[in-house]
Amino acid sequence: MGAKEDIDRLTAELKVYQDKYYKEGVSLVSDSEYDRLTDMLIELEREHPELQHPDSPTRRVGSDLTNDFPEVRHTIPVLSLDKAYSDEAVLDFFSKSIQKEGGALSFAAEEKIDGISMVLYYEGGVLRRAVTRGNGEIGNDVTPNIATMPSVPLSLPEPIDIAVRGEVYLEKADFERLNAEESDESKRAANPRNLAAGTVRRQKSSEAGRVPLTMFCYEGFWTDRSQTPSDHLHILSRLKQLGFRINPHLAFFASDRAQAEDKLRDAGLEGEAYAFSQIDEFIRHKAAERSGLGYEIDGLVFKINELDVRERFGYTEHHPRWAIAYKFEAPQAEAKLLGITVQVGRTGRITPVAEITPTKLGGSTIRRATLHNQEYIDELELAIGDTVSISKRGDVIPAVESVIEKNSEGSTTYHLPSQCPCCHTPIIQVGGLQYCPYYDCPDQVRGRIAYFASADQMDIETLGPKTVSLLYDAGILRSIEDIYSADYSSAADLPGIGEKSIKLLEKGIRESLGRPFAVVLSSLGVADIGKKSAELLVRNGFSSIDAILDAVDRKDCEAFARIPGFGELTGARIVEAFSSERLRATIEALRKAGVHMDAAQDAKDGGGEEQIFSGEVWCITGSFEHFNPRSKALKEIERRGGRTVSSVTSKTTHLLAGEGGGSKRADAERLGVRIVSEDEFLKMIGTDEEQDGGDGQLLLF
Ligand code: IVH
Repeated sequence: MGAKEDIDRLTAELKVYQDKYYKEGVSLVSDSEYDRLTDMLIELEREHPELQHPDSPTRRVGSDLTNDFPEVRHTIPVLSLDKAYSDEAVLDFFSKSIQKEGGALSFAAEEKIDGISMVLYYEGGVLRRAVTRGNGEIGNDVTPNIATMPSVPLSLPEPIDIAVRGEVYLEKADFERLNAEESDESKRAANPRNLAAGTVRRQKSSEAGRVPLTMFCYEGFWTDRSQTPSDHLHILSRLKQLGFRINPHLAFFASDRAQAEDKLRDAGLEGEAYAFSQIDEFIRHKAAERSGLGYEIDGLVFKINELDVRERFGYTEHHPRWAIAYKFEAPQAEAKLLGITVQVGRTGRITPVAEITPTKLGGSTIRRATLHNQEYIDELELAIGDTVSISKRGDVIPAVESVIEKNSEGSTTYHLPSQCPCCHTPIIQVGGLQYCPYYDCPDQVRGRIAYFASADQMDIETLGPKTVSLLYDAGILRSIEDIYSADYSSAADLPGIGEKSIKLLEKGIRESLGRPFAVVLSSLGVADIGKKSAELLVRNGFSSIDAILDAVDRKDCEAFARIPGFGELTGARIVEAFSSERLRATIEALRKAGVHMDAAQDAKDGGGEEQIFSGEVWCITGSFEHFNPRSKALKEIERRGGRTVSSVTSKTTHLLAGEGGGSKRADAERLGVRIVSEDEFLKMIGTDEEQDGGDGQLLLF
């Protein structure tokens, strides 16, 4: 038999197996036999790409070739929806529409799936393209990834030309399972929509195919208008008949229930029938049902059923006038994206930052929000001028969550520049992230110095990011080691810096010479060595820089990998980082300046505190008279060798309890953890009232 016959036969056979499996859950052959046949077909198609059937079952498996998602123009309007946040607003939409039409209307009500909007284009009944919404006119062609989804027909039972719109999403249970399987915490998605968005844009369709995405379709656009059914219900039933997945949770509104029931029956669809007057009942019922659904919905969509009316109503620039979305929650905050600035961090990492219209959120006014990286921007299909929703994640960093309304200027998805905005070195890609690779890039140098001096590290008071920038620009500070050798006298002329602040700065720098070795180690800003890992190194035999450098020179990654919580990758990274000549030079210069490079110096040198809390694990609760903010107390514990944790567990040895405080005290009592009051604590660290200098000010701070 020739290749064509082989391909035709295998295609037909596998299609039968696939259909039976996906539609009825029945396996007609063993997994190994199925895989064997699939591999054979993949191989044949690779040799003879021209013979591949457009609906070949191998498209379900995906491929290892890299996708590039070309931009393509939509041939249907891919608009958004007008929004309502109350029952009244929906009822108002009903009555205004009826008034405008001057006759009876009916409305379909669908769940608003919180997923990724997708348009499937079929030509002659074959899936030609799956395109993301993009800016509504131009989207990305993500066909190889979408073709892996069993719910997306690769071919239709009839050779028609049609565009089908729907929502690609991930079931909550699948999201939970996949996220739990992801061992790298930083790679876990925040919600099912994020994971679905990431999957739709996976570079390898074989990988996208492993995520069980699915799709509900809700609109159909026939190229041959004469084939278009006369109302929405018949569109849905036709889509179903063509093999698309339709959300069975359908409701229908008419002036009375009986009429609504009739229309559903006429279209051959199951659904809940309602009278207009029951809108509040329906919305309450859906809101209650929401958390029990297997997928996320963020609202309900109400659409005029009659197609001729839809045509008369038409569209605004943003949305059809014949539909409205009821949203369960108003967005936390809405803002317009004015621009995107590109920051260069101390490690060279490039971060796009959204500049937004000033927006009140959680008691503060937000002007900027992080956009993480290019991938995040691509997933949101974010363009300048878009209206976006902003949230504060974990109540700290404001983030752009989603696009509410596309810009009307037609701008397309934003792309990071190809060069570092600071030093113009070409940007490189590492994993999904972008970096400036130039070590002497001014933004990186300023960042490294500011990090070294920051309160969490060497804690050099008055050497904040602004001062660092000033001193860098004046040529006074050009590296970490310059901090200890610079001549600050010429800085007196700089704006905002005077004799007095120079004295303070010099005092701060002198004091920093006493910081423990573990702090010095983490201040160097080496990737993988934060505060905790620096302490772990010190406690696990690497109590001096020489001990570390010895192991590095022997390329003994294993010595680091053995430390609990480190592992091979960290071991290798530490060896690589400390092999850098630049870092070595910094270390030697700091050593000369008198910075601790050995933990043995810590206790001897007046700067270091006696390690009275060594081996102890402290937690903290309530508020304090002498430690405001509370982190000051944590610092005192850490300076004395104690470890601090955020919750009371069986491993906790002490709970420092101030005024108030809640469940942690009960936890401590239950677990027999020693509870220490503020007064007791002050005595322990040798700063009780008697030493208080008499004016209520602690000498310690
Ligand atoms: S109808 C022109 N129906 O919500 C028709 N949209 O905020 C417009 N969505 O971009 C869409 N479920 O991605 C429609 N049942 C549903 C929907 C739905 C989710 C999404 C869709 C759209 C967005 C509008």
